[in-house]
Amino acid sequence: MSTPLPPADPTVRWWEELPAGRNRLRGRAHLHSDAPELSLDGTWQFRYGTRADGSDLGESAEIEVPGLWQLQGYGAPQYTNVIYPIPRDVPHVPDENPTGHYGRSVQVPADWAAELAAGARVLLRFQGVDSAAKVWIDGAEIGVTAGSRLTQEFDVTDALAAPGEHRLDVRVVQWSVNTYVEDQDMWWASGIFRSVDLLLRPTGGIHDLVTVADYDPATGRGSLRASAYAADGSPLAATLEVPGLDLSAATGQDATDVGEVRPWSAEDPQLYDVTVRTDSETVTLRVGFRRVEVDGEIFRINGERIVFRGVNRHEADPVVGRAQQLANQDLDVALMKQHNLNAVRTSHYPPHQRFLEVCDEAGLYVICEGDFETHGFHADSTGGEDGTGAAEGPAQNLLFEESLVERSDRFVRRDRNHASIVMWSIGNEAASGPVTEAMVAAVRATDATRPVIYEQDYAAEYVDVFSLMYSTVEETEQIGRRELSPEYQDKLTAMLRSFALDVPEGHFADPPALTKPFVWIEYAHAMGNGAGSLEEYMELTEQYPALHGGFIWEWIDHGLETTDAEGNRIYGYGGDFGERLHDSNFVADGLVLPDRTPSPALLDAKHHYSPVGLEVSPTSVRITNRYAFSDLTGLRGEVSGDAQESWQELELPALAPGEVAEVALPMHDGPTTTVRLRTREAQGPVPAGHLVVAADHVDAERLRSATAPSAGAALVPQRLEDGSWTLGPARLDDLGRLVGLGELDLEQAGVDLYRAPVDNERARTRNPLEARWKRIGLDVARRRLVEIGADGDALVVRTRIGLDGSALGADVTERFRGDAAGVEVQVTVTPSAFWPEDLPLPRIGWTLALPSRPDQVEYAGYGPHESYPDTGGGTTFATWRSSLADLQVPYVFPQENGNRAGMVRAQLTGGSGPSLGLRAPAGLGLAVRPWSTAELDARAHDGALRPDGRTWVTLSAALHGVGSAACGPLPLPQYVLPAREETFSFRLEAATL
Ligand code: GAL
Repeated sequence: MSTPLPPADPTVRWWEELPAGRNRLRGRAHLHSDAPELSLDGTWQFRYGTRADGSDLGESAEIEVPGLWQLQGYGAPQYTNVIYPIPRDVPHVPDENPTGHYGRSVQVPADWAAELAAGARVLLRFQGVDSAAKVWIDGAEIGVTAGSRLTQEFDVTDALAAPGEHRLDVRVVQWSVNTYVEDQDMWWASGIFRSVDLLLRPTGGIHDLVTVADYDPATGRGSLRASAYAADGSPLAATLEVPGLDLSAATGQDATDVGEVRPWSAEDPQLYDVTVRTDSETVTLRVGFRRVEVDGEIFRINGERIVFRGVNRHEADPVVGRAQQLANQDLDVALMKQHNLNAVRTSHYPPHQRFLEVCDEAGLYVICEGDFETHGFHADSTGGEDGTGAAEGPAQNLLFEESLVERSDRFVRRDRNHASIVMWSIGNEAASGPVTEAMVAAVRATDATRPVIYEQDYAAEYVDVFSLMYSTVEETEQIGRRELSPEYQDKLTAMLRSFALDVPEGHFADPPALTKPFVWIEYAHAMGNGAGSLEEYMELTEQYPALHGGFIWEWIDHGLETTDAEGNRIYGYGGDFGERLHDSNFVADGLVLPDRTPSPALLDAKHHYSPVGLEVSPTSVRITNRYAFSDLTGLRGEVSGDAQESWQELELPALAPGEVAEVALPMHDGPTTTVRLRTREAQGPVPAGHLVVAADHVDAERLRSATAPSAGAALVPQRLEDGSWTLGPARLDDLGRLVGLGELDLEQAGVDLYRAPVDNERARTRNPLEARWKRIGLDVARRRLVEIGADGDALVVRTRIGLDGSALGADVTERFRGDAAGVEVQVTVTPSAFWPEDLPLPRIGWTLALPSRPDQVEYAGYGPHESYPDTGGGTTFATWRSSLADLQVPYVFPQENGNRAGMVRAQLTGGSGPSLGLRAPAGLGLAVRPWSTAELDARAHDGALRPDGRTWVTLSAALHGVGSAACGPLPLPQYVLPAREETFSFRLEAATL
């Protein structure tokens, strides 16, 4: 069985050939069939080397297929966002080329014999091999793959014709000509990472099937066309059956009117089981009847304007990486549906085919994208995005045309039977030119029933839908108004010129883009704590009909489980695997953490993506039905007038899609009014009783009087002999620092102007505030006592916060007033008048540490999740209880997190001392942590954070917004925290309040 492979010949560089690939069958649908299949997944033999010709392969060992070898002990993953990790030397790659030689034996099952004798064929199917592979059977070449995330099939009938075992060899190289067109922002990792199977293709079998299930919203009737094809591409007569519609018809070019149908939409993903049969094969699939149309500037599904409340999804898993756990497909869709997402873009390649089936079943609108990106041509390691490489890029390099057109055709053929796919995208960030234009044309030629989108056709000259990424609220508004300012026109012109294209002046004065629907193909970059301002973005979609929403970047942090030098279990990112070139933690920018725990950004999105808008006042709620097709009968309304202690049923009005109603609420006394909507029944992965949206109204004045403590008799400050002070239970040292409260010791109490910078403020952003804050030493600000003394029954401490090497700083006045039970602190912070205008403060607040380590927190304020000025959608006012651990957000890269806004009352219990009570009737941000800000700031991985034996309490009177600047806009002006004077008050008690 083991015929040796032909000897290595370093001059035959199959991995660099253009057109790429050899002997592959044309793309076709991934069908569920009763024809026999043999999975070749499992343990294979594996030899690893550094030369693609196989001349230095090591010892044979075992490896799992599917899988990436870098995650199975060979080589290491490398993360770059834009730049190629190899020299840009098209179509060549370096001689040193990590290579994995896979081998196993294959035997055609004995019970295939009869069919084979009758002329059946055997196909070898690879669903994903990164980045190119040469395949042999018994030492004879079968072919070469092209397209890492595209299905490739080879006819191996003759090679396997002899009875008995055969030897299958698959040599996979990490770098190939494909690398140049697969420069997506993700881990570079290689191997046979999706399933491999052997398929028996019976004579007269259904080689390919194309279904078009149309729905006419005017008549409510559906039509179905199913075209079956033989392997040679000729039409095949087959029978089509749809039991749910009592339909039995012949396949062919004509559509069959199926009468009235329940259409498919993301809101009601009605699917019909379809069987297509010939004498020798039965194929089953599920179709959804729906019509997708671009109607002028409106994108319609089943006649209705659709707003995409979407996300970009890469395939990532902390253990197996891009090789997917099957369960992740269902889990991701379930999480998306439970958080009000209705759309997903398969950035930047076609996904595991199961994912699309789940999108059909659960209801998500999909932009299915081809496996294509060449970003490294217009930004390389020598400098900025100056366009020097763009002219050589595949968009304009006709040598790539055939391969890239074939890529576009191939992925559309695999997936075109899916109801969920409502648009095709040829790929991402690959510039624009004749080749991308030809790719768009190829997609249209293969499937004319769906619009095509490609962002870098910036003027939307050859695509159906206009899209951009990371446009600001202000820019998007111009798009919505159909009028671009001269500055914005210049910016877009420059963007197009950066592709080395000849773009005339005035190109964007009246571009085709402004006659087409618009989507943010990417926006709201969810790296770390953020993104801010989803609310403002989504509001635009209600104001301007042409704005159809968009796709948050991105779904999941691609962190990989590993161990750091100190033995901590961490999620690794760029640089953690010894890479010379890398882009650090830019690979961790998702709505869910690597283990798929929802991050607060997903909860924020859930709120702003809610299909029903709620605006609550003390006496009524304004309800907006944002569904395109549904009324509100699937939802149950509830109202609470006592900060969610009790709920009453709220009858919802019969509200058609798009309608708005004002509904009166029952009278109540409390300062808060909360309304929530929950599902009545389970729908797919969304359970019955699931919270869809909650919103509230808080009357700040009434809340203030309801939570203001009844002041006990004021006590007078006492100065002790050693210069320290007491004031009721409060103890202050001779420098005026609060060091105790009755039995409770306090440490490091005082004004705090810093926070551990969020990713949007760190080095790789549009506004690297961290460097500026650290340069002036805001993280190690110095305190100097100016004056301390009694003023009536108050103890007044004046201090100066100074910054090293600078005269900048802030004057602070703290007024302490004590009574038998506690102490009230009023703080005024006055930053230097000459503070630079463009340098916001991270926070204005007050921090203290408790050596007694309380670890349970109950607070009245907004929750249950974190909020910052421009995030926190979905938080409502109530009394929330949490463990200390659950108040932390384990962002892959440690940073400011966990702030609960509007805290008026809190109690910290547990640990070794009395509880600490806090009151802040005007509302303050509250964060409670087992480590200091300095620790949070110093560590580079969540798993490396060390509790220091204290519980840290941070109160924030004001916080800077978090924005999206790691790859998007800065916080909007209203969320910027200027260095302004701020006065705030709170009360501390060392017992139960
Ligand atoms: C976009 C790109 C994405 C991702 C993102 C930053 O430019 O299309 O793939 O790199 O930026 O996270």
